[in-house]
Amino acid sequence: MTTKDTLIQKLQDKTAKIGILGMGYVGMPLAVVFAEKGFNVLGIDPDQRKVDTFKKGISYIQDVPTETVARLQKAGKLDMTADFAALAEMDAVSICVPTPLRKTGDPDMSFIVSATEQLSKYVHKGMVIVLESTTYPGTTRELMTPMLTRNGESGLVVGEDLFICFSPERVDPGREDWTTYNTPKVMGGMTAACAEVATAWYAGAIETVVPVSSVEAAEMAKLLENTFRMINIGMVNELALMCERLGVDVWEVIDAAATKPFGFMKFTPGPGLGGHCIPIDPLYLSWKMKEMNYNAKFIELASEINTNMPRYVVSRVLEALNDRGKTLKGNKVLVLGVAYKPDIDDVRESPAFDVIALMMKKGAKVEYHDPYIPHIHHEHEGWKMSSIPDADLMEKVAGADAVVIITNHKNYDYKAILDKAQFIFDSRNAMGKMGKASEKVVRL
Ligand SMILES: NC(=O)c1ccc[n+]([C@@H]2O[C@H](COP(=O)([O-])OP(=O)(O)OC[C@H]3O[C@@H](n4cnc5c(N)ncnc54)[C@H](O)[C@@H]3O)[C@@H](O)[C@H]2O)c1
Repeated sequence: MTTKDTLIQKLQDKTAKIGILGMGYVGMPLAVVFAEKGFNVLGIDPDQRKVDTFKKGISYIQDVPTETVARLQKAGKLDMTADFAALAEMDAVSICVPTPLRKTGDPDMSFIVSATEQLSKYVHKGMVIVLESTTYPGTTRELMTPMLTRNGESGLVVGEDLFICFSPERVDPGREDWTTYNTPKVMGGMTAACAEVATAWYAGAIETVVPVSSVEAAEMAKLLENTFRMINIGMVNELALMCERLGVDVWEVIDAAATKPFGFMKFTPGPGLGGHCIPIDPLYLSWKMKEMNYNAKFIELASEINTNMPRYVVSRVLEALNDRGKTLKGNKVLVLGVAYKPDIDDVRESPAFDVIALMMKKGAKVEYHDPYIPHIHHEHEGWKMSSIPDADLMEKVAGADAVVIITNHKNYDYKAILDKAQFIFDSRNAMGKMGKASEKVVRL
């Protein structure tokens, strides 16, 4: 049997050892899916606190129940370590490390580089490696593969001894209908044999695997998905600015357009883009294109509009306070929700930070409440804040000169908030018709 056939056999009969490099929002759910389907999985993460929490049988990822972590650990299906030497034992490795931006706005490839450096020490014949981190087209071929083969010096031939692929992660944290298991998984290989091996592996745990002809096609597919969202959100944010000037209710316009059963997809405006993906991933593409002397115009434009939304929200709050004979300076503002989207505990890139910072600069006394986020820390500005306790929420709502809704968490009692508040700026239309009908509420 060839190395490829032996590896496929091991993956299909689930005797292959699976390593997940990077056990965060993406890596942990993926590790759980593989373990649930009978693979023996080892998560490898340099964050010792995560490893210690896991070892206590506790989940630190909201979408993964503690019961699941404890059960899989007890069954010997899922384990975790901070020791990279464990990679030597692995037959198959998925890389799920962060791909943020540097302060300059350029891709920060340091996590992919350090994970690949570690992996290259232990890479061996009969190993399959899948990069899951979102990145620019060319990463798998131009950056990762030469490191893994030590520029060919390892003697390992890609597609014969070593199998390298890119498969973008599409998980949407907090979502229950589309999960890591049932969301189709695009798979692009360095060679057809690479894709064949990785497809055999992932098909043992994930409902649908969609092979494509190259790693670049898979890398680009992910960027298309997230660029599509970013540009449409930018477009609808601009629509909100235009509607305000026209004196037209943007929310009514969107709902009306959304009754069209074909050719339209509903996007909603808001205080700005958040999360680890939508504001960042398209910039990986525009950065790569700049290297090729091409300016990704749609991305730049949408990014500019979206980045300006927190400032726009603050200007609208200020204007509405002015209409009520008040200002921001010296007055109390209560921000409701700082997570980047409803019902999750993630604040990465949340526009709440900019909105709060801008209002503080205008002299407002800002507090926040978020049922999922006990503390926040603005790294650039250096301030820290804690959520007001749940028990004090209604008293604080009543005492605030302005309540500013940034995240439309479902578990808020908006009716009670409306009853108590003096004035509400609703940047998400969280209050819907109730907000539209109330003179206390100004909507984006
Ligand atoms: N979170 C999402 O919703 C989502 C969705 C789709 C795609 N993605 C992409 O998936 C990738 C991972 O994102 P995430 O949200 O899981 O990030 P995360 O920060 O939650 O997790 C990354 C993990 O990698 C670990 N890590 C850092 N350096 C490492 C190294 N050298 N070796 C091994 N582990 C290392 C970190 O300690 C952390 O636990 C990113 O490229 C992201 O863009 C994320």
